[in-house]
Amino acid sequence: MEPKKPKTTISVFKADVGGPGHIMPFPGMIDEVRRYLEANGQGIYKSFHVSSTGDDIAIIVGHQRGPNDKALHELCYKAFIAATNVAKGLNAYAAGQDLFDTAFCGNLAGMGPQIIEMEIDERKGETVVLFCMDKTRAGAFSGAFRRACGTVEFNTGLLHSVKMQQGFVFEVLDNYYNGPGERVIRLNSNSEMPALAALLVVEDRYVIKSITSAATGELCAMVSTFCLDRSSSTHVGKDDPVALFRVQGGFTALGDVLGVFALCFLVGGGMRGSHKVVLMPVEVGTCVSDGDGPAVVSAQVFCINEGVLTDPTDGFKQPTWDKVREKASRINSWLRSIEPDGVTLPLNEIEYHGIQDTLEALQPRFEIVNVPAAT
Ligand code: 13P
Ligand code: MG
Ligand code: MG
Repeated sequence: MEPKKPKTTISVFKADVGGPGHIMPFPGMIDEVRRYLEANGQGIYKSFHVSSTGDDIAIIVGHQRGPNDKALHELCYKAFIAATNVAKGLNAYAAGQDLFDTAFCGNLAGMGPQIIEMEIDERKGETVVLFCMDKTRAGAFSGAFRRACGTVEFNTGLLHSVKMQQGFVFEVLDNYYNGPGERVIRLNSNSEMPALAALLVVEDRYVIKSITSAATGELCAMVSTFCLDRSSSTHVGKDDPVALFRVQGGFTALGDVLGVFALCFLVGGGMRGSHKVVLMPVEVGTCVSDGDGPAVVSAQVFCINEGVLTDPTDGFKQPTWDKVREKASRINSWLRSIEPDGVTLPLNEIEYHGIQDTLEALQPRFEIVNVPAAT
């Protein structure tokens, strides 16, 4: 019998550490992350890849050290610090934005960056997509992933696989809970689809954390759910989540999970986190510069062999996606042109608190008038 292979871990760390405005990092900052990892990470990772989407830098690492590995977290933390130093040297805007001002104590979780760590037994032909979003929040994945796993219109595998018809287990997190631990619920996409859809309507609060095959128990997808706004009173910026999604075989086909993004979902984000904007599928490295929007999602497809990632293929490069981008851009501009008051998210979901200060400052100027005389 062949000896059991060690498990592979795919870790993703993503942070905004500055740039010109909020549109993209300077290329020298991305180069510096690469340089730092190459110079200091030999023996820690098996492979890595660095990319940008909007103003965020994402590091994806293939390794066999398991999640929460201190050496790897420290390496990536220091790589982001190195890029921050490059940003500072350029007097870049918002240098170090997503790194909370706290000392590293063993784990990057809770320090600002978005993180996912997926530990798997590699399948033959293991293929995984790294999705990165900018100018939005974790709930922006819900519309796409619910459809891509749970509906016959978007997951053709459901027609062909009796196993897949057992559904996917969606682990949904209550992002407003602030007690100890996490508040989660698990729902099956086959038998409980209406309830799952109802929950995910509340985009700011209930977010997908992971998706698992009900038939095999294998992990299909993970979404980063760290909420910057609720974790720091001073931070300004959006969560800009990342997700890993395994495809083919017992999971959704690659073309299906990419194709669902052609719908151009309406998501919270953009315009200083105060709007509902369109989610535009973009090529990796695209900047975000149309009125702080639209929100964007990139897709990099990797195969992985014993922790060694291939170079990525860009999932949104086919010419079809130019047409989708045109549609997204048109709808987004139209939405912006008809909105009544410059803010389209409920006030409690807005990420910059300035408007609430403005409203507060106006309170003393209200007068009570036209009080009916006592009879
Ligand atoms: P980022 O989170 O992408 O930095 O966006 C900040 C912002 O609110 C721009 O207006
Ligand atoms: Mg930014
Ligand atoms: Mg960003």
